[in-house]
Amino acid sequence: MAAWVKAAIVSDIGPGQKKAIDLDGLAVLLFNVNGQYYAIEDVCTHDGAPLGSGRFSNTWVACPRHGARFDVCTGKALTMPAVEPVDTYPVKVEGNDILVEVEL
Ligand code: FES
Repeated sequence: MAAWVKAAIVSDIGPGQKKAIDLDGLAVLLFNVNGQYYAIEDVCTHDGAPLGSGRFSNTWVACPRHGARFDVCTGKALTMPAVEPVDTYPVKVEGNDILVEVEL
């Protein structure tokens, strides 16, 4: 069942920043792209590396293991060696809370 879960507060993630979060065992990465928030699964589709320590610039994050880049807004794999997209999750802001919709 899908549910909105509080993942962070607005002041946790300024523009151009990201934050790795564990939502009931689901590894999620939250991004602030010019004031818009996006969430993807924190697992590279190439070989399972966490993306949380990878470089984040503009709208992409790079996998720290082999360098594949993913679009943080769409989840699309932008460069090899990854070809499959990462999962994305809806995000909304209520007051100071950032909520992510995930399957629990
Ligand atoms: S594990 Fe991410 S590019 Fe290989």
